Amino acid sequence: MSMMQHYRGMLAQEKRIEAFRRAIHAVVRPGDRVLEVGTGLGTFAFFAADAGAGRVWAVDGTPIVHVAKAIGVVNGYADRIEFLRGWIPRLTIPERCDVVIFEDFAPRLLDAGNVRLLETLLRDYAVGEVRTVPCRARLMLAPIRSDRVRRAVLSFADLDTEVVYGIDWSPSREYAVNAPVSVDMVSDDLVADPVALGEVRFDRAPDPRAALHGTAEWRMDRAGSIDGLALWFDLELAPGEWLSNAPGAEPGSWGNTVLMADPPLSVGVGEVLRASVGSSASDDGTPGWLAWSLEAGGRTVQGNEFAAAPASLHDLAGLSPDAVPRLGRHGALECDVLSLTDGARTMGEIAEALRGAHPELSSELAQREVLAALQGRVETSIANKV
Ligand SMILES: C[S@@+](CC[C@H](N)C(=O)[O-])C[C@H]1O[C@@H](n2cnc3c(N)ncnc32)[C@H](O)[C@@H]1O
Repeated sequence: MSMMQHYRGMLAQEKRIEAFRRAIHAVVRPGDRVLEVGTGLGTFAFFAADAGAGRVWAVDGTPIVHVAKAIGVVNGYADRIEFLRGWIPRLTIPERCDVVIFEDFAPRLLDAGNVRLLETLLRDYAVGEVRTVPCRARLMLAPIRSDRVRRAVLSFADLDTEVVYGIDWSPSREYAVNAPVSVDMVSDDLVADPVALGEVRFDRAPDPRAALHGTAEWRMDRAGSIDGLALWFDLELAPGEWLSNAPGAEPGSWGNTVLMADPPLSVGVGEVLRASVGSSASDDGTPGWLAWSLEAGGRTVQGNEFAAAPASLHDLAGLSPDAVPRLGRHGALECDVLSLTDGARTMGEIAEALRGAHPELSSELAQREVLAALQGRVETSIANKV
């Protein structure tokens, strides 16, 4: 898929775009300074300007922002929207904003990267009483029954065997079923009403533990097997304006997550199915491995993301605090480029100096190494206005 197909494709998500348009008009007040992190083709920045913003900072780390700027010029927004290329938090903007728009969430809403990003946005880019779009999210959970989903996770058409092409693949199964994966689900895959696990507000530093921890229970009105849990989030874009990402709602590109029960858990009529989901916390408080369990009638099935990562003891030893890492070839080249980037040398001079240290590089390869090593690492500021 080309970059333009990707971004124009998002314009086809009419339900999502119109919900954001309504929310932005409800939240932005005349004269507001608005920061949109991840502007893509500029859609929400244009809506913010239409809603009366005095100044909009429309930021994206990818070159798509050049196209957004051209669209802004053609549509008469050039005087109110500044398009900037760069990754927040490496990119600085000259003023704190009254409104922050951000929606590049992980399918499970918060991962380590966007927890840190949201903290930084509030601390360094926003006024104390910031308004955000979205303003709130809820993690939702529901049990599923679906051979189609099970096939999507296990990859084999015949769900009763691990023997395919005459080979028994069963040692790989544990890794497959312990991975929380995104699968397109439909509302019929759900066998009970969803339960809200936790809630996150975006106008304060998110507490990922509160969002990604919880228990739910359902009294089942039909007997059958449970294939796992569907996990998704609903967004409150502006007070009262909800956008659901439930299976079948298809609002956009965030997707749902499947947490498998393997083997499936059989549940009788009238029995209570209990589920718990929780994410371990890393040292810095950001969410780590996801673990889940389902229990009914004394039978329990568990899953844990950690068990999905094929790692030998040797790999794990390499991650220990006592291990001594050594730079590989790529790391060494990157290290040289970074130390040659002294604020005085030009790109051409850095590439030449790199060739001096690594004579095996052609000048074209040296230039490519310099570009690759500096991509997203050099200071970007207002000077990066596109
Ligand atoms: C899912 S796209 C949404 C684009 C646009 N808001 C829309 O609805 O069409 C998310 C965009 O956020 C950008 N992005 C994510 N994190 C960012 C960051 N920290 N700084 C700048 N851009 C970021 C990505 O490059 C991507 O273009």
